[in-house]
Amino acid sequence: MLKDKVAYITGGTKGIGLGIAKAMLDQGMKVAITSRNQTAADQTVKDLDDGAGNIIGIASDVRSMESEKSAVKQILDKWGKLDVVIANAGVGHFASIQDLTEQQWKEVIDINLTGVFNTTKSSLEALKNSKGYLITIASLAGTNFFAKGSAYNASKFGLVGFSQAVMMDVRQDDVKVTTIMPGSVSTYFNNHQPSETDAWKIQPEDIGKLVIDLITMPARSLPSKVEIRPSKPPKK
Ligand SMILES: NC(=O)c1ccc[n+]([C@@H]2O[C@H](COP(=O)([O-])OP(=O)(O)OC[C@H]3O[C@@H](n4cnc5c(N)ncnc54)[C@H](OP(=O)(O)O)[C@@H]3O)[C@@H](O)[C@H]2O)c1
Repeated sequence: MLKDKVAYITGGTKGIGLGIAKAMLDQGMKVAITSRNQTAADQTVKDLDDGAGNIIGIASDVRSMESEKSAVKQILDKWGKLDVVIANAGVGHFASIQDLTEQQWKEVIDINLTGVFNTTKSSLEALKNSKGYLITIASLAGTNFFAKGSAYNASKFGLVGFSQAVMMDVRQDDVKVTTIMPGSVSTYFNNHQPSETDAWKIQPEDIGKLVIDLITMPARSLPSKVEIRPSKPPKK
């Protein structure tokens, strides 16, 4: 069902984006991943390519509309269509409002919120043509606020609202939109190093499975907002 469908994942070099890329390749999909850095994108392609040429790596910073448009053009030039877009790239800075710098605020909002706008604007026409699917990776921090989270909470609350409004805008064009809101996932987010002590957390491949489940739902049904959390976090 998914064989030869074409996907674009922003920020697919590690963590959740990489987990989604692997799940899609396992289904026979063609996948383009991005990174801020061409060397990191090339390394991911080297790691994942089984010789079939089903993965390409593109340097694109989601903060640049021009660069996102170029990434989508490169995918269309190579594979002729775009079926699934995963707006995943994101960062976090966590500090109380007294200590949060203007630069940290801007980086979080520019990547996590404006970056998704740039990816969405750049890919929407192609998604309308394919009757495709846009998935944004928000967070439980898009509904639960916490101390030191002002920038991250603002970006993810904003992203949840953005995604739901876009869903309403495009569903009559047969484009589906879902926002996934994960709790703790074992990734490199915020300089974390995954290790065995992360065993209780959601793993990137679990989000990969969720994405495959979403994009194989019957056309008539749309889980538009999905919260996913570790089933048994350590007791506080
Ligand atoms: N980990 C969690 O617990 C968790 C929970 C809820 C939501 N999330 C969300 O999940 C998403 C992925 O995070 P992760 O946990 O997988 O973190 P990660 O392991 O640090 O991976 C982040 C990915 O985003 C890319 N990236 C960062 N800034 C970018 C930019 N400006 N342009 C293009 N790519 C960029 C990175 O690529 P390069 O470094 O190669 O550029 C990397 O591939 C984020 O939106 C995050 O907010 C994470």
